[in-house]
This record gives sequence, C-alpha cells and structure tokens, in this order.
Amino acid sequence: MKKDFLSIYDLTKEEFQELIEIAIKFKKGEISDKPLSGKMIALIFQKPSLRTRVTFERAVYDLGGKGVYLSPQDIQLGKRESVKDVAKNLDNWTDGVVARVFHHGILLELAENSRHPVINALSDLEHPCQILADYMTMYEISGKFEVNLAYIGDGNNVANSLLAATAILGGKFTIATPYEYEPNGFIMKKALEMGAKVEIVRDPKEAVKDADFIYTDVWASMGQEAEREKRLKLFRPYQVNSELLKHAPEHVKVLHCLPAHRGEEITDEVLDGPQSVVLQESENRLHTEKAVLYKLFTR
Ligand code: CP
Ligand code: NVA
Repeated sequence: MKKDFLSIYDLTKEEFQELIEIAIKFKKGEISDKPLSGKMIALIFQKPSLRTRVTFERAVYDLGGKGVYLSPQDIQLGKRESVKDVAKNLDNWTDGVVARVFHHGILLELAENSRHPVINALSDLEHPCQILADYMTMYEISGKFEVNLAYIGDGNNVANSLLAATAILGGKFTIATPYEYEPNGFIMKKALEMGAKVEIVRDPKEAVKDADFIYTDVWASMGQEAEREKRLKLFRPYQVNSELLKHAPEHVKVLHCLPAHRGEEITDEVLDGPQSVVLQESENRLHTEKAVLYKLFTR
C-alpha cells in the first residue's frame, strides 16, 4: 500500500480485496497484533462526525495506539496556521494523521508535508474509508466484489468513491441523478479509462431494475448547507422509498453511509426495513478502519 490513503484510486484490486479480508479477520477476532503500540495518531476534523471519529479512535486504541482528536476550534487548519506548518509540526510528534477536510487539496498538502501516513476521513471529493466498509458489507451479503450497484441521488464524495471502487473491483455502477449533479469528471474519466461499467440515468426506477444493492446519501453534504432548499426541491424525485424498491429485484439490499436525513433521500420504512443493511455497514466501519491502520503500520 502507498504511504497515504487519500483516494480509492490509491488501491490496487489486490490491495482493496486484501483490506476487506483483513477487516473480516478483525471482525472474527482473528487478529490481535498491536502495530500501533507506542504510537500516536492525530485525528483532524474540520467537520462533524460520529462514525468516522469513534471508529478511528476505537481502532487506534484496539491496535495499541492513542488518538489525539483535534476539532476545528483546536487548530483552525489553514487559518490559525498554514496546512504545511501544521503537517510539519504534527509529523515531529505523531505517527500518522487521519483528516476530515473541506477541500481535498488540504489532504494532498498534509500528505506532501508528512513523512507519516495521512488517511482521508472524508473530503469534498472522496470518502474512501466509508467505501471499504460498504464493499465489506456487500461482500458479506453477496459473496462477491463484482456487484451491481445503483446509486440514487447526489453525485457527491461518497458516489465518487463508489464509482472509483467499481473501476477497481469490477461490477456495475449505475447512478440516477440530475444532470448538474453527476460524479466528479476526473473520477469518471479515469473509471471509464479503466474499463468500468458505468451508467448515468435520470430515472431512479431505471437505475434499480437490475440492482443487487441500492445506495443513497444526503442531498446536501456538509459544507453545502446554503444550497439545501434548492437541492431538496431538485432531488425530490430521487427518494429511496418502498415504491422505488418495488422496481428492484427481490434480493436487493439498501445501503446508506449515514447520517441519514429521514424523509428526504430515504424514508423511515426503508431505512428501518428488512432490506436495509445500514447498521451492518456502520459496524463494518470499525473493522475496515482497523484494516487500513494495520496495513499502513505493519511494514
Ligand atoms: N458515514 C460517516 O462518515 O459518518 P460520520 O460523518 O458520522 O463520520
Ligand atoms: N456526503 C456526505 C457524507 C457524510 C458521511 C457529506 O459529505 O456530508
């Protein structure tokens, strides 16, 4: 694995699959190594978090290390002090950085200025740690990596990373989204160059017709609050609800990275219903965070 994990594209197919295999071993309690023994990991968060923060803190702890949480108020990345200066200082005292940032470029700058690993805990461009847990969940359920995934809604950071994952692992990625909200152009171009099977449609019913899994995420991501009203109107036809599930195969399961805006992108009856696997998915965040740390710190 490369020094840093900033993008799903940082992984080869073999590395991606190995991370999932390691995560499954962690879940079964088959790995008790402590590669972070005596090490400290800085957890920089420019945005709120429940799952990512807690699973990384727990993963660092279980692997023998200690995490230091740095909230937006603590360091005011790029405001109180330049990103480069923060990176070079942390590099002297800690052994790695997990960072959730507004702009993906901040991660690149942190990584450039750190000798130690930098891990993307969500940026405006990607959410690679989330996608490892998603693929672990889909693998546990279907027994395969080449799944037929239908993404309904905003072509955001989560959609970008899912698209990149399809390019690496195979399967098919179909997204139902309005024209202006398609996934990032660079991620899409690279996926197509890699031979990914990608389809962009406007009608959610068309997207789900052959799906093994349906995925959705909020219509306004963190940092897009000002666009919320506009987005609520525009994405209204893209809700994942029981009516939509009728158009999908019977075996379909529903994923959501959470937090969910219940009644917006997904209804209560679907999120809490028998086809939802969101709690398995969020549990797997812990095991996949451990797998990433394990791979990066076992050399
Ligand atoms: N899915 C996810 O990343 O959740 P948090 O924003 O709570 O970390
Ligand atoms: N797309 C969402 C994901 C949250 C985990 C956001 O960026 O806010």
